[in-house]
Amino acid sequence: MTQHSHAGVHTAVHAGHDDGHRLEADLAQLLELDAETSGSALDEMTAWISRQVTAEPRTIVDLGAGTGAGSLALARRFPSAQVVAVDRSAVMLDRVRAAVRGQGLEGRVRAVQADLDVAWPAVGAADLVWASSFLHEVADPGAVLGDVRDALRPGGLLVVVEMDALPRFLPDDIGLGRPGLEFRCHRALADAGWNAHPDWRPLLEHAGFEVLAPRTVSTGASPAPSATARCAAAWFARMRPALQDRLAAEDLDVLDHLMAPDAPEALLNRRDLSFRGSRTAWAARRP
Ligand SMILES: C[S@@+](CC[C@H](N)C(=O)[O-])C[C@H]1O[C@@H](n2cnc3c(N)ncnc32)[C@H](O)[C@@H]1O
Repeated sequence: MTQHSHAGVHTAVHAGHDDGHRLEADLAQLLELDAETSGSALDEMTAWISRQVTAEPRTIVDLGAGTGAGSLALARRFPSAQVVAVDRSAVMLDRVRAAVRGQGLEGRVRAVQADLDVAWPAVGAADLVWASSFLHEVADPGAVLGDVRDALRPGGLLVVVEMDALPRFLPDDIGLGRPGLEFRCHRALADAGWNAHPDWRPLLEHAGFEVLAPRTVSTGASPAPSATARCAAAWFARMRPALQDRLAAEDLDVLDHLMAPDAPEALLNRRDLSFRGSRTAWAARRP
């Protein structure tokens, strides 16, 4: 299996068909739990966007939409807009369609399959483009930014969002092994290029955008303990294979203990978890 080594949440791209499908389904579940757990962060972002736009957007495009959390939040924030959720994954787009039906937003949000490394889809002119945890996944971000600029109407806005770091769930001392396990996991994954992204400002400016001040929001809401535990379990399941050769055997044993569903100290049974994370958004206007 080959993955983009720089992906924030690694996306399988060249896995065998069954493996690829399963990895995408796992990622879809993780994205849904992440959206459920990160509380009002998306609404805070869309409220901020509503203060940056110069007119009510008519067409919004969500690039690398995943399961559509951003598309749906934008559709709710801008009730007169049509939203296009673009992703290369059919698995993700099926989840988007289901969520759209679940929220009664048929006719407002449509799902379009396209690989943005290959070609920009025929979605028409846009007033607002949203790209969350996506731009660092493409092969040539500068080329995609050029496509976005061409698709935006003059005065239109692009919002690029990235996680500042992988979300944290565990206390420093979990009563098993050496304290600081989660820190060591994240450091090992950072060394492997997970969630690696630059400050996007220079590339946005190079692509001809006028960059507004960036905005950072905390995703540390207070979700239900069971949702936090399921989200933590999904994150650790995602991280575990990449940690195999990067952590000491003692840490790997503790990790496996945490991920075993029936152990009393397992993630799914713990009550000392909390979701702590933050995201930064760069808003950029097409002159
Ligand atoms: C980490 S997920 C982020 C999903 C969503 N934007 C969010 O913030 O929850 C990245 C998404 O980008 C999609 N993606 C990655 N590369 C892509 C490409 N070249 N063209 C279209 N979609 C792509 C993946 O399928 C995945 O759904």
